[in-house]
Amino acid sequence: MTVDHPAIRVRGLAKSYGTVEVLRGVDFDVARGSILALLGANGSGKTTTVRILATLLKADAGTAVVNGFDVGAQAAEVRESISLTGQFAAVDGVLSGRENLVLIARLRHLDDPGAVADGLLRRFSLTDAAARRVSTYSGGMRRRLDIAMSLVGRPAVIFLDEPTAGLDPEGRIEVWRAVEELVGGGVTVLLTTQYLDEAERLADRVAILREGRIVVNGTLDELRRLLPPATVEYVEKQPTLEEVFLAVVGRRA
Ligand SMILES: Nc1ncnc2c1ncn2[C@@H]1O[C@H](COP(=O)(O)OP(=O)(O)O)[C@@H](O)[C@H]1O
Ligand SMILES: [Mg+2]
Repeated sequence: MTVDHPAIRVRGLAKSYGTVEVLRGVDFDVARGSILALLGANGSGKTTTVRILATLLKADAGTAVVNGFDVGAQAAEVRESISLTGQFAAVDGVLSGRENLVLIARLRHLDDPGAVADGLLRRFSLTDAAARRVSTYSGGMRRRLDIAMSLVGRPAVIFLDEPTAGLDPEGRIEVWRAVEELVGGGVTVLLTTQYLDEAERLADRVAILREGRIVVNGTLDELRRLLPPATVEYVEKQPTLEEVFLAVVGRRA
């Protein structure tokens, strides 16, 4: 496995539920150590894509390689390479934040579960709340703990499926900071979101899923260049990602 291989490579991925074709040939790469935002409306197939990449669901056609392993033929190796955190936080509310982390570290047979937990609590600004039951945490704190838990055992690839869905603005910003904290650690992140500002803030690249295919894939600058800048007399305005998105999905504001 050399560094020039992307951490995630998806080609021609197709998936139907009964007669409903959700994915009709999805192609994208995620470079090692980068964050790709998979942007799409509710029901566009974001979770379906993530579940296939996490080996929880079989594709009907196409290939997906995660951390150098084929999701169909090498599912066990893929599972060892990834962690998945979702809309539905996997944390146990009866346990404290620290106990949750220690539990996961034990399950992963790490050497010093307490030290792993304390390091992650510090990194995600949860030290003060470490001994409290998670049921007393705010939504943002729970998601931060969820992301911290996903880092136990240092997975190469992290899937964050709508990590800020249902959070209040303060909680969203807390989670954004936690995701930004992941950057630079060499981890590769596939983030799904319905929120354009979230993709704009967090992602190196943005891929837009629509009607079962990736209709746009690029850096924020590339996406902005898709729309000619609107010129109003003397003032040139850069299109926002929202304007690009609406133009691509055919609904103009
Ligand atoms: N297990 C399932 N059985 C039938 N239809 C499903 C199932 N899971 C998802 N779908 C449908 O597939 C489409 C894509 O769902 P999903 O991947 O969850 O989209 P997203 O995460 O982008 O909101 C939706 O129309 C959804 O209703
Ligand atoms: Mg979803």
